[in-house]
Amino acid sequence: MTTETDLRQYLEKCQQRVHSALERHLPAETIQPQRLHHAMRYATLNGGKRVRPMLVYAAGEALGMAAEQLDGAACAVELIHAYSLIHDDLPAMDDDDLRRGRPTCHKAFDEATAILAGDALQTLAFRVLCREDAVPFSAEVRLQMVETLAHASGSRGMAGGQAMDLAAVGLELDLARLEAMHIHKTGALIHASVKLGCIAAVDADPKQSQQLEHYANCIGLAFQVQDDILDVEGDTETLGKTQGKDQANGKPTYPALIGLRGAKELARSLRQDALDSLAALDERAEPLRWLADYIVNRDA
Ligand code: IPE
Ligand code: IPE
Ligand code: MG
Ligand code: MG
Ligand code: MG
Repeated sequence: MTTETDLRQYLEKCQQRVHSALERHLPAETIQPQRLHHAMRYATLNGGKRVRPMLVYAAGEALGMAAEQLDGAACAVELIHAYSLIHDDLPAMDDDDLRRGRPTCHKAFDEATAILAGDALQTLAFRVLCREDAVPFSAEVRLQMVETLAHASGSRGMAGGQAMDLAAVGLELDLARLEAMHIHKTGALIHASVKLGCIAAVDADPKQSQQLEHYANCIGLAFQVQDDILDVEGDTETLGKTQGKDQANGKPTYPALIGLRGAKELARSLRQDALDSLAALDERAEPLRWLADYIVNRDA
């Protein structure tokens, strides 16, 4: 039987672990170029739910790995995510002023610094994955992780989804296109988070890895559906980002296309599908089950 406290404690443990890994790998602000390093730390060590690192830990632990073995992969995926948020907020993209309750990176610094901070966080992610002291597996396993994260971040993953998002401004997409956009811009990195945990578990039964990957696909889409819902129903203070921006920016979203009720139903059914695919896993998969609930019930 799961309690809210179990979930909170698990989230906190993961947040602390990834925070110290990020602290370890990000260059200090005292090192040149200081302004760039300051911006990188500003955009990374400033809260955030850390859902993707949690998924790395929860997937790896479900397959018998220890959290200590997963810190590097968890850190790498969060570095990519932080970079994606910096660029997502730029005037050329969503033009947002508020992120995680503070001025966005380009507001706190300047646009050029924000672009470079995103670039540098992205390359740092791959450097971390290459390092044996951060990712304590064979070179072959680390290479597989690099390939997975690169694919999920690039033109056939997150960056591609962002391109679809920008091309869709002002249009009404059909459901298939909206789904493809969400799967790419958000689902890809969530899928990669779970997959990194699976790759670390070299001896895992491939069938279990497949079940975890299906789980990831379901919650990846559910995550962006809930993000769309919160843009309508959430409040700026709790969200830490400006509510109502999707409509203001003419973005196609699930609530806009199928209504709030339809979007909520979809999130619930994706959650159920995700849970069903974990049916054969033992109690070590509990955190993954809590996370499926959290993703569709969160208010930020
Ligand atoms: C926001 O991601 C961007 C999306 C992909 C929807 P999160 O909701 O995970 O943002 P943080 O990391 O908690 O700030
Ligand atoms: C963000 O989608 C997706 C990525 C950052 C890759 P959104 O544009 O909806 O995210 P928020 O709402 O600004 O966090
Ligand atoms: Mg966006
Ligand atoms: Mg945005
Ligand atoms: Mg959004």
